[in-house]
Amino acid sequence: MLYSDKVMDHFNNPRNVGVLDDADGIGEVGNPVCGDVMRISIKVADDKIDDIRFQTLGCGAAIATSSIVTEMARGMSLEEAVSITKKQVADELGGLPPAKMHCSVLATDGLKKAVDDYLVSHGRDPIAAGTIAHDDPDFDPHAEEHDDACDIPEE
Ligand code: FES
Repeated sequence: MLYSDKVMDHFNNPRNVGVLDDADGIGEVGNPVCGDVMRISIKVADDKIDDIRFQTLGCGAAIATSSIVTEMARGMSLEEAVSITKKQVADELGGLPPAKMHCSVLATDGLKKAVDDYLVSHGRDPIAAGTIAHDDPDFDPHAEEHDDACDIPEE
């Protein structure tokens, strides 16, 4: 499996790692198939992502996609941030192997949840609800891939 130089760079030197102690919104999401989890915390100013951090316990692609999403989202409006797609994430990284495309959904869903967490906690309507893949009970993160997509050996 070949990764782009940019994927390797973000895996080896992930940007914006950590938690914002005074976060305005927090999004947590887990992949039920591989067990990978990620958390995004955001600060919001003038309805834009003012600051952002992530923690990801997962595969290299999950870490790289989380890292690049924080760079993409910083400075975006909340509407723009929740509209980031897994394809945009993959393109920004110079591509992802097909078996790893699902990993980028972790990052985009985490960001959506953080934005909605901010809005709801401020008495406003969520804007990402209904578009968060991991909230769909029928969502299969590996639907487009082979069974061994996570490189986790079967018991
Ligand atoms: S998110 Fe689980 S293998 Fe990448």
